[in-house]
Amino acid sequence: MKDISTKEALLTLLLGSKEHLSGEKISQQMGVSRTAIWKHMNQLKDEGYEIESIRNKGYLLKERAHHPVEEGLKVALKDLSRFESVKVYETIDSTNLEARRLLSDHQMSEGLIVSREQTGGKGRRGRFWYSRKDEGIYMSLVLKPDIEPVYASMLTLIMAMAVSQAIEDYTGLETGIKWPNDIVVGDRKVCGILTEMSADMDLIHHVIIGVGVNVNGESVPEEIENMASSLYLNLGKKMDISSLIEGIIRVFDPLYETFLQEKSLRCMISQYNERCVNINQELKLISTRGETFGRGIAVDDQGALIIENQMGDRQTLVAGEVSVRGLYGYI
Ligand code: BTN
Repeated sequence: MKDISTKEALLTLLLGSKEHLSGEKISQQMGVSRTAIWKHMNQLKDEGYEIESIRNKGYLLKERAHHPVEEGLKVALKDLSRFESVKVYETIDSTNLEARRLLSDHQMSEGLIVSREQTGGKGRRGRFWYSRKDEGIYMSLVLKPDIEPVYASMLTLIMAMAVSQAIEDYTGLETGIKWPNDIVVGDRKVCGILTEMSADMDLIHHVIIGVGVNVNGESVPEEIENMASSLYLNLGKKMDISSLIEGIIRVFDPLYETFLQEKSLRCMISQYNERCVNINQELKLISTRGETFGRGIAVDDQGALIIENQMGDRQTLVAGEVSVRGLYGYI
């Protein structure tokens, strides 16, 4: 069992109580001074927790912070040993870059990095990822799977499934996956995933799975207006970003565990195919060799997309080598 900080312990107590807790009681239970309690209570308030304090009655948590707070996420994920290490930033260039820095400084092994904003969010193919403050999830999972590098691309598909499922659970919106790893609502992208890896020929040092979800944005930047959207724009109400992060991790963790044992997507690929918007769809396939066309048939248990051309010939496409589009637009 890991050591938890005073602030985490305090938050756990507050979250678990429907009644006011006196400073004295908290101080006795936690074995720290009332001054220390008062100090941490104020920090939690500064971080966005609404805590009522009534003289002679004590403290009551009225509302959780609407944005991610480090202790809040640690408390929420405390039963998942892989995510004991959680870091939350107010602002950062990119959570994927921060993950790399923390790894090279040996400040993190496995864990989760979240930021409320990114100033240099990275998308795939060198693109920029808009990351306005408190409008989305900007997070990176750092993992050290004991698998060969060839299997690593499947992790992205697992994350896509986790995000798709968690969004549905939390919002009731129907989501789809555009192979290999964009999450769409209707015909617009609401989430992108950027997986980066450091490996030797047969050994993975680490994998960083960067996840960006457009959650509460009231508008989409003009350049990507025709292909991107946010959950808010589909739902008409704002969501608690921390809860959605927790939801994603909770769906991801058991899928990842199964994958580590099986080293394939066998157990989950039918679920993936059900969500995949490219199946039975006429597709334009863009690669460095130009454009070709085909119909999406299925995604196999290695995460490759099987397509069929007009002649009935089948081809297996590996994620990363081609971009897939609908005939007339993004989907
Ligand atoms: C894509 O182009 O579809 C992938 C976008 C990935 C964005 C996320 S946001 C958190 C993490 N940090 C980054 O700099 N990028 C990823």
